[in-house]
Amino acid sequence: MDGWTDFFFQGCSLKVIKLFRDLPRDPEFREFQESQSWQLGRRASDNMPPGHDILVLWMTARKGKSRTQYAAKTFADFPRERAEARIRTSGLKNHSVEEVQKQLDPFWLESRAFEHVMRCCSNSQKIYFPRYFGVLKRIQRQDYPLSYLLRPRAIVLEAIKPELASRRVLAANSPTANRSKSYEAFSQALDQMALSDFERCWYRSLFSDRFRRLLVLHDIGATHGDVRDDHFRLPGDFYDTVLYDFSSSYTFYPTWPCIRRPKPLSAMTSNEQNILLEILLDRAEQCDLRHYFARSLQLSPQVVEGLCSQTINSEIANLELIVLKVMVRPDEFSMPSLASILPFLEAIRPENKSTWHISRARLLQYYDSAWVLYPRHKEVGEMTLVSLSEKAFLDTDTLPVDDQHTFFLLLFPRSWDIGEAVHRLMAACSDLILSGKQGSVLSRAQFDNL
Ligand SMILES: Nc1ncnc2c1ncn2[C@@H]1O[C@H](COP(=O)(O)OP(=O)(O)OP(=O)(O)O)[C@@H](O)[C@H]1O
Ligand SMILES: [Mg+2]
Repeated sequence: MDGWTDFFFQGCSLKVIKLFRDLPRDPEFREFQESQSWQLGRRASDNMPPGHDILVLWMTARKGKSRTQYAAKTFADFPRERAEARIRTSGLKNHSVEEVQKQLDPFWLESRAFEHVMRCCSNSQKIYFPRYFGVLKRIQRQDYPLSYLLRPRAIVLEAIKPELASRRVLAANSPTANRSKSYEAFSQALDQMALSDFERCWYRSLFSDRFRRLLVLHDIGATHGDVRDDHFRLPGDFYDTVLYDFSSSYTFYPTWPCIRRPKPLSAMTSNEQNILLEILLDRAEQCDLRHYFARSLQLSPQVVEGLCSQTINSEIANLELIVLKVMVRPDEFSMPSLASILPFLEAIRPENKSTWHISRARLLQYYDSAWVLYPRHKEVGEMTLVSLSEKAFLDTDTLPVDDQHTFFLLLFPRSWDIGEAVHRLMAACSDLILSGKQGSVLSRAQFDNL
């Protein structure tokens, strides 16, 4: 152990230190090789200032007859002169220009973070971030859109869109997140605000979902470096997708970092957790969920407040089976968190019941869950029950994050006896596949007829 390792990991568990002991110091970044040919297209976001060193572009890649869309985060080279200037202004006398050039390069920082996630996270944790497909090390001018300044290096990522296909379903219970000091502090602050119980539950759930994403990074000895609301969701999107943008991240590296006042991991992680807390308290103070519903339903915030708080117990007896198509595996095959499932409920609400998703989200505790796995490109019959009422029938850790599997989440009222009717759950999934829809809502009578 050298001085920096001891300093950085002070107060941390041995587990995280061991992770790095076994890793090569400078492993090669995997090269993008998922396709026979690829083409860069338009930029993925209009929010980026022109001339910025980083530009995110859509990328289409061909493999056999199929085409896949990716996002290519492209980076300008980090010039030697910039590293020399940093040495002069920051008094980094013990660092070589090459070392500074490498350690401050956002491409290096982001690629290392993704490589580290790939190496150290379980399949269930990898879903918290965009999928990573490797890097392109030297893009030629003719392969880069002529209308943009060439950024010759790229990190190839899953194309994230403000759509259900990019959203993740996270488990309702997250003991680690919910036991944290920040969760306690957040919860107490929420209690002081003029919000309905439902809104409070939603903000708590959102905090817990986001905290979990951040904690996974922290637990593998990395920090995000730029915790912002729009790094958990795309700009303009209301609901979360993944935690992204690691270009300011820090993943432990065994030499003293090229920054002025380096901090230990524990200080950086608690700082990031506090930032998250502030972001969400700010959103809760602005009642942004209420205003989002008001906009999307064309109702006044006062009416929405009523929808979030009026008694709906009379609906408990008439709850339906809810079947949802989920394109990426969940972190746990169990009941979903309120924050992660709300956009799915909203997307499949029956046409004549515009506020159905709010009432069902409020009644989530009356539901139980089942998960079904369906390998895409296979016959509809080849479905497997993954879990029922939190009991798993497969080794779920091995279920990969890929585009070969679709999952179905079935939320059924706890009052229904499903024990003898599992075949009906499977039939509901088959019907959904054939319909090509995102989800379906079945009454008890419809379910019994399956
Ligand atoms: N995987 C992705 N899929 C789709 N769009 C993406 C993806 N990654 C980034 N983007 C888009 O590009 C924008 C900028 O991405 P990102 O935050 O990673 O880069 P950045 O240069 O560090 O940005 P900033 O400095 O503004 O934080 C995002 O706001 C988003 O709109
Ligand atoms: Mg960013």
